[in-house]
This record gives sequence, C-alpha cells and structure tokens, in this order.
Amino acid sequence: MQELETYVAQHRERFLSELMSLLRFPSISTLPEHAADVRACAEWLCDHLALLAPTRLELFPTEGHPLVYARWEISPQAPTVLIYGHYDVQPPDPVELWDSPPFEPVLRDGRLYARGATDNKGQFFAHVKALEALVRLDRLPLNVILLVEGEEEIGSIHLRPFLETHPELLGCDAVLISDTALYRDDLPTLCYGLRGLCYLEVSVRTAAADLHSGVFGGVVDNPILVLAHILSGLRDGYGRITIPGFYDDVLEPTPEERQRLAELSPDEEELRHQLGAPCLFGELGYSVLERRWLRPTLDINGIIGGFTGTGAKTVLPAVASAKLSMRLVPHQRADDIARKTEAAIRALAPPTASVEIRVLHSANPVVIPLDSPPLHAAARALARVFGRSPVFVREGGTIPVVEWFTELFRVPVVLMGLGLETEGAHAPNEHFHVKNFLRGILASALFLQEYAHAKA
Ligand code: BES
Ligand code: MN
Repeated sequence: MQELETYVAQHRERFLSELMSLLRFPSISTLPEHAADVRACAEWLCDHLALLAPTRLELFPTEGHPLVYARWEISPQAPTVLIYGHYDVQPPDPVELWDSPPFEPVLRDGRLYARGATDNKGQFFAHVKALEALVRLDRLPLNVILLVEGEEEIGSIHLRPFLETHPELLGCDAVLISDTALYRDDLPTLCYGLRGLCYLEVSVRTAAADLHSGVFGGVVDNPILVLAHILSGLRDGYGRITIPGFYDDVLEPTPEERQRLAELSPDEEELRHQLGAPCLFGELGYSVLERRWLRPTLDINGIIGGFTGTGAKTVLPAVASAKLSMRLVPHQRADDIARKTEAAIRALAPPTASVEIRVLHSANPVVIPLDSPPLHAAARALARVFGRSPVFVREGGTIPVVEWFTELFRVPVVLMGLGLETEGAHAPNEHFHVKNFLRGILASALFLQEYAHAKA
C-alpha cells in the first residue's frame, strides 16, 4: 500500500492533467453532430492505454460508437477481473448555467469541473491509473480486461450484441465498475442494486400541418392538450403509476431491507432544502430511500410542441411529443412494461389524434448477491483506503451492462462508487472531487490485490 501511495503522490499532477485531456472531448453520445468527437475520445483513450503495454488493445467499431478494449495477461492460471466504464457523456445543456465551459476542465476547491468529470470519465480513469501504477511497479496480481464503451448514456444499445458475439474476449471471474456514488463523502460505499429503465418517445398528431387556430380551431383537436391528457393519465399526484398491471411484478421490500435502509435514512428536511423543493414528493407509505431505490417511477424528461418563442402566435400545432421514462425494480421486465405502457397510452388517446410510440432503449433492474468473494475483497480494499468499512446501498440509476453480467454471464459485479450524488451528474457544473479520484486509484489497485490474494 505504501508503495502505491507513493506512486500516486508522485504522479498526481500528471494524472490530473491527463484526466483533463480526456474531459476536453465533447463525447456526447446522443447527439449525432458529436459522433466524430466521440470517436476522437475513444482514439485518445486507446493511444493512452497503449503506453501501458497491454497484451491486447483494440478499438472495436459498432453500429454506433466504438468500444475500447484492452487486456493485460499475467498468467492463464490467474483470475481475471473485467473493469467496465463509459467514455460518453450527457449533453451539457443548459450551458448558460455552467460557471465555466463544460468541455474546458478547471480545478476549483479540490474539485475538477467538466461534463463527464464524475459520470464517468473521472471514475473509470481512476482504474486506468491504478492499472498504470500496478504495471509500472511490476505488481499486477491478476489478468485484467478493460472495457470502456461510448453508449452508456443512450442505453448501451450496441454493447449487448458485442458481449454476445465476443465471449472469448470477455471471460472473467469478476466485474468492477465505478459508476455509482459514495453514499456520503468519506463513507466508502458498495452498491448492490440498480433500477432498470424503460424509455419511450410518444408523439401525437392531430393534422397534417400547423393551422391557423382562428380558422380551424374547433374542428381539429389540439395535440399538446391531447398529449397532456395522456401523460397525466399515467400517474397520480403521489407518483403512483396508473398503467394497468404496472405493479404486478414489483417485489415489496422485506422487513430486513427496510430496517437497513432506515438506518441510512437522510434527514428529510435537509434533503428538501438541499434540492430546493417546496415539499418532497412521492408514494405514501415508503421512505425517501425506498422511493429512490426500491420503488418504480414514471417521469416525463422533455416535452416538445407548438410555439415557444417570445410573444404570442395563434397557431394550432399539428404535432406534440414527449420523452417518457420509467425506472423499474425487481421483478419488473422492461419489455413487459413497454407493452403495458403502450396499451395504456392507446387507451387514453381520443379518436381525434393519431399516436406514435417508440421505445428508445430499456434495461432491466438488478440486485447483486452480497456474499461474493470479489465483494468481500472490495470491502477490505475500501476499508484500507477510507479507514472504515463500507456501507451497502442500492441506487436508483441504471447501468444496463450490470444486469447482463449478472444474469447473462453469471459473473459477480462490484459497484464501487467514487462519485457523490451532489456532483451534478447530468446537470450543470458537473465535477469530481480530486480526493476521491486519488482514493479511487488506491482502492482499485488494492481491490485487485485483495481479490487475487483471496483466489490464490
Ligand atoms: N452513472 C449513471 C448510473 C447511475 C446513476 C447509477 C445514479 C447509480 C446512481 C449512468 O451513467 C447513467 O446515467 N445511466 C443512465 C442509463 C440509461 C441511459 C440507460 C441513467 O440511469 O439514466
Ligand atoms: Mn450518466
């Protein structure tokens, strides 16, 4: 540990400037105009990894954004850990709310500010630097595969087929991912459950083209009102989803889990204040953590329609659309929920409108068993770095690949979050605490050592 700490301390400035280079790429996977930036980011990462003399290094093209694959082999007898991360980021909008430009990383108060700083470039780069330390010190204790994709923020759409068609590249004994959060600063955290996601786009049309609302208003329906009617029919005022059959497969929390979450419970008034909400929201009978981690939700992520410029325009718009997503929990299945939602939308739509529904992407929820050897190794590694043992949490976000590794390949996954919920992921002024970047490097290297030792 001493040797690793010294290495990290000696190379701290370079590590940060390399991370800043990585953060300068606007690798926004969802925006087609940034496809070349996404690719350039992947190429930079490949070139960077080449310096660590991997046994194999490849930039795999997909039908979407490329995948970065590297492997370090020390012995066919040694166990293999696969480290996953994503180099794509969310769009930076609204850009005017950033205190510094999203793709010009800056250090302020021990934090690195940039889009992707915490989600996920800073977090996965900690593992890259851990690998560097182990390789340079000639201390790599097992085989490592590094898989960094460019489509996590759009549902990992081309990763699943890649995993299925390249099993020979992916054989491993454990998966390590840092794309979740520390429950609180200075509190090491292992996450054992993620919600799934079902993301739909709904569009409503009431005429072939926009019309003068004075001339045709009264004989053609208004698509925005139709959409509003449909959307408000999907959920009640407490967040209880009214889609028929939606809760059929939802697993109720067990008394033991409720107890465990109750012990972590945040102060609700403090949380309300932190979020700037007039009053917290949500299903009756469930605590804040239950509502965030164990209960399904339905949200409208965006709505498009009609005239939104300054001033007034008397138009009867022809179309309106909404982005709708639902977070899912065990044992809901994303494809089943998509079908039920589509049926509910059709049942709510009046004959004056034609409705089109498209599934953009989906992921199933996952719960990870708590008793796997890599999870124990991770707990020991975190305890050494943070000076206390980790807490075990579930989280409300989604990482599609976790369910694939868990259910499809039956490999234990370790979710070792290094970010904080307050670091502005998907929001303006995203940042990452340098302190946690450095701790992450140590935790990653120690994890590999602890796990190799346990398997030996
Ligand atoms: N890092 C997040 C996932 C996450 C967020 C885990 C919060 C735990 C807590 C990841 O990059 C992400 O944002 N995922 C998307 C996935 C989706 C597009 C399929 C999400 O959750 O919205
Ligand atoms: Mn994200």
